[in-house]
Amino acid sequence: MSIHIEAAPGAIAEAILLPGDPLRAKFIAENYLEKPEQFNRVRNMFGYTGTYKGKRVSVMGTGMGMPSHSIYVHELLQDYKVKKLIRVGTCGSLQADVKIRDVILATAASTNSNVNRIRFSGMDYAPAADFGLLETAWRLSQEKNLPARAGTIISSDMFYTEDPDEWKLWAKFGVLGVEMETAELYTIAAKFRAQALAILTVSDSLVTHEATKADEREKTFRAMAELGLETIIAD
Ligand code: HPA
Repeated sequence: MSIHIEAAPGAIAEAILLPGDPLRAKFIAENYLEKPEQFNRVRNMFGYTGTYKGKRVSVMGTGMGMPSHSIYVHELLQDYKVKKLIRVGTCGSLQADVKIRDVILATAASTNSNVNRIRFSGMDYAPAADFGLLETAWRLSQEKNLPARAGTIISSDMFYTEDPDEWKLWAKFGVLGVEMETAELYTIAAKFRAQALAILTVSDSLVTHEATKADEREKTFRAMAELGLETIIAD
């Protein structure tokens, strides 16, 4: 048991998929895992462990934004000794050639958050994906003919920004998408010498203002969850 997770010692697998939404964690457990057992109900941040193609895998929600994500990932690493973490989430596209429903493998994450400035006494840290997981996910995405891109993203502390054009600065520097968690995932995983990767589907475009519909979101979410699970068992 840790402060925010009620799981018994050993109840969480070494490899875990991390959607933001706890109901997505339930969906993955019910649709992809054999014999899933629920290990967390605290704050309705549902977590489950089962097997996928014979390998023990967990899945748990982390909430929205870096503070919530950080608490769960920190406890998974420190108290439950998790070694492989794959975030499966959504992002907004910042580039005209990154279309809704595309998949982004986040090679590294910039951020407008002050968390790492605080952590590193004003200096900058470069939060980056684990190369092994990235390489495996990239290869599998090519084999599955998924419309995948590998590149950088920005993890933002704000969804509703005061300046509606703020994203354009990041776009100018080649950043593919915006979401709200990955910079913190990559930073803490590195501290604990764990492997981490964010696989994101593009749910909306800040360039064209298009957004995916609910049924499309379910389909793209399934493809992303399958890619995450296959990456875990292949790596
Ligand atoms: N901004 C921040 N996070 C997001 C977005 C966005 O437009 N879309 C999906 N996650």
